[in-house]
Amino acid sequence: MAAGGVAAVPLAARFAALWSSLERVGRDPSTGGYRRFAWTEADRALRDWFAGQAADRGMTCEVDRNGNLWAWDGEAADGAVVTGSHLDSVPDGGAFDGPLGVVSAFLAVDELRDRVDRPRRPVAVVAFADEEGARFGVACAGSRLLTGALDPAAARTLTDRDAVPLAEALRAAGVDPEGLGRDERALARIGAYVELHVEQGRALADLDAPVAVATAIVPHGRWHLAFRGAADHAGTTRLADRQDPMLPFAAAVTSARALAEQAGAVATVGRVQVAPNATNAVPAAVDAWLDARAADDAVLDALVAGVTEAAHAAAHGVQVTCTEESRSPAVRFDAALRDRIRAVLGDVPLLPTAAGHDAGILAAEVPAAMLFVRNPSGVSHSPAETADPEDCVAGIEALAAVLEELACR
Ligand code: GLV
Ligand code: MN
Ligand code: MN
Repeated sequence: MAAGGVAAVPLAARFAALWSSLERVGRDPSTGGYRRFAWTEADRALRDWFAGQAADRGMTCEVDRNGNLWAWDGEAADGAVVTGSHLDSVPDGGAFDGPLGVVSAFLAVDELRDRVDRPRRPVAVVAFADEEGARFGVACAGSRLLTGALDPAAARTLTDRDAVPLAEALRAAGVDPEGLGRDERALARIGAYVELHVEQGRALADLDAPVAVATAIVPHGRWHLAFRGAADHAGTTRLADRQDPMLPFAAAVTSARALAEQAGAVATVGRVQVAPNATNAVPAAVDAWLDARAADDAVLDALVAGVTEAAHAAAHGVQVTCTEESRSPAVRFDAALRDRIRAVLGDVPLLPTAAGHDAGILAAEVPAAMLFVRNPSGVSHSPAETADPEDCVAGIEALAAVLEELACR
C-alpha cells in the first residue's frame, strides 16, 4: 500500500500529489513544454522518480537489458499483468503523453492492493525507454529492442543532434549497450500489457465519455529526406546555375500535404535543418524528416513514394535521398483482451488511433490493450495537451478494475 494508506486519502488527492511530484522535471519555463529526452539529465530524474515510487510501495525495481524500467508487486514471474507507459517527451511536449500512464499504473496498483490480498498473477508497472525517439530518431526504441523489432547493432550507432551515439548515452546512464536486443526472459514475463494514455484527439470530448478502449493503430513511419546541392552567393549566382536544395525540399513538403489529402492520410514535415542557414547564401544542404500515417500500408507506401517522386521532379541538379528511419505496421489490438476489458468497464467507446505506442510494438508478441483518457482540446505533442483531473481519476479507476480482472480472475 502507498505511504499514508490508500483508503485514508481520496484517490483524487493522491493523483494530484503524485502528478505534481513530476510537474517540474524537464519543463522549459519559457515555453511551458517538456524536454524529457532519453538518457539525459531530465530522463535520469524521471527514472529516479520511478525507482522512488517503486520503493515507496515495497516494489522491486529492475532495469532490463534494453533500459526499460520495471516495478514488481511481489516476485517477478512469467505471465504477469503489466501496465505502464513512458516518461520521455517530444520537444516542448505536454505533461500527459506517457507520464499519465505511469502515474495511473502506480495508483491502480495501490487500488488493487487495497481490494485484493494476493492476486493470482504477478503485477508489474513498466516505463519503456525512449518512446518518442526525440533524441535518437527511432520511436519506441525501448520496446522495439525488447521485442527484436529494432536491430541492436543498428541501434547502438544511432546518433543524436550532437553526434553522440546511443551506445555512449546508454553507457553514461549505466546501461550496457552490448546487452541490447530481444529479451526472451522479459517477454515471457508479460502475460498481458495494458497501457493507459491520454487521448491524442477529441473523439471522447465529442462522445461525452471519459475513457475509451483502443481497437487499432494505423501504420505510420518516419523518413529522412536529404537534399544535397551547392552553396553559392544569393546575389551573384544566376538562377539557371543554382543547385538549390530548398526547391526539392519545398516540393516534398507541398506534395506531402496534397498526396495526404488525396489519400485520406496525414503527412507532416516537422523538423528541418538547413546548412549553412544564411540569408544571403544558396544553401548547400537541407535535411528534413517526414512523418506519414495512413489507413493501410499500401496507401502509406504510395504516399511516401509520391513525395520522393515530387522531390526528384523538382531536383534542379540537387541530389535527393529518402531513408526510412522507423516504421510501424498496422496494429489490431487483441480482440479477446479488448472484449474482456470492455465487459469490465461497461459500454465504453472503442477508438482507433493514429498515434504510435509501445503497446502497438508489444502487440506483435503478447496480448496488448490500451485505455484512452479524454483530452478536452484534443491537442497533443504540445504544451497545451491536457486532461481534467476527474477524467484522470476515472482512468485510474478503470485501470484498477482491469488489473483486478486480469490478475485475479
Ligand atoms: C508518438 O507519440 C507518435 O505517435 O509519434
Ligand atoms: Mn507522443
Ligand atoms: Mn505516448
